[in-house]
Amino acid sequence: MAFGICKSLLLVAVSLTLTSWMYSAGANPVTSENEKHLRDDPFQAGHPLTEEEFQSGVTENKGATLENGLQPWKHQENGTGLSGCNNPHDTGKKNANKNADVRWPGAQIPYVISTAFLAEERRAIASAMAIYHGKTCIRFVPRSSQRDYLIIIKSSGCWAQKGRVGGAQQMSLGNGCVYQSVILHEFMHAVGFDHEQNRPDQARYITVNFTNILPQHHWLFVSKPRDAVNTIGNYDIKSIMHYGAYASDSVTPSLPTIVAKNGQKVGSGDGFTWMDIYKLNRLYGCPFG
Ligand SMILES: *[C@@H]1O[C@H](CO)[C@@H](O)[C@H](O)[C@H]1NC(C)=O
Ligand SMILES: *[C@@H]1O[C@H](CO)[C@@H](O)[C@H](O)[C@H]1NC(C)=O
Ligand SMILES: [Zn+2]
Repeated sequence: MAFGICKSLLLVAVSLTLTSWMYSAGANPVTSENEKHLRDDPFQAGHPLTEEEFQSGVTENKGATLENGLQPWKHQENGTGLSGCNNPHDTGKKNANKNADVRWPGAQIPYVISTAFLAEERRAIASAMAIYHGKTCIRFVPRSSQRDYLIIIKSSGCWAQKGRVGGAQQMSLGNGCVYQSVILHEFMHAVGFDHEQNRPDQARYITVNFTNILPQHHWLFVSKPRDAVNTIGNYDIKSIMHYGAYASDSVTPSLPTIVAKNGQKVGSGDGFTWMDIYKLNRLYGCPFG
């Protein structure tokens, strides 16, 4: 299934049939209530986001409720992943995973957004883009005729591929995903970053209790080789790209899956850290600081 999905992600017109790969960093959530009503987005391109939407400062959509700490890994698509179709189950990838290869040229990310998003959701998405625009030289621009671009859909779950894959690539902000920290997180995948706990220097900073994680979710927690992930800057346990300590679908949800070696709280759930912004700026060679 993983291979088929990777291929279909390159086709604009195909509406996804996958169930969600749920994003689960920090305290960022989906609502189980909403999940029951998820349907795939029969994609139709909506109007580009407006300047007014960019300026709206919306951090969430009021229609949904946020359940802190809910981390449904079981909704992550097996073998594909939030770091692109680039994981232990999918060796047929065409996209090299090195830092430079995943970047969008000129730090410009052409996007198309689905008509499926409600007005409040559009404002939340535009507001998250505005944070990138304010803190980095990365720019989300309406797609005109660019070959490579991001299609923002409202499918099941919150997921994105890592960096520029080539052609049209989808990213989903499903119900329960339209919160600032989740949107920033998914865009950071699309911009070119893996989960922070996938860094090769993971073991110096955290202990992962793999016994508390079902085998099919282990790939989300492995440390990857240096040439497979972005290693800009320092390991950051508070990164918006770091998973939190607890998850509702771990073996024993009351026990942590990740413990920081310095005893600090793991995961962000609340916006970019300074280090996240540093990393984004470094990857794209933005003037910084
Ligand atoms: C992932 O794999 C598990 C066990 O192999 C299975 O129960 C689950 O339905 C799969 N999820 C998806 C989305 O394919
Ligand atoms: C790791 O997880 C297992 C399974 O939930 C649990 O029995 C064990 O006590 C945990 N270990 C630690 C150090 O928390
Ligand atoms: Zn993620």
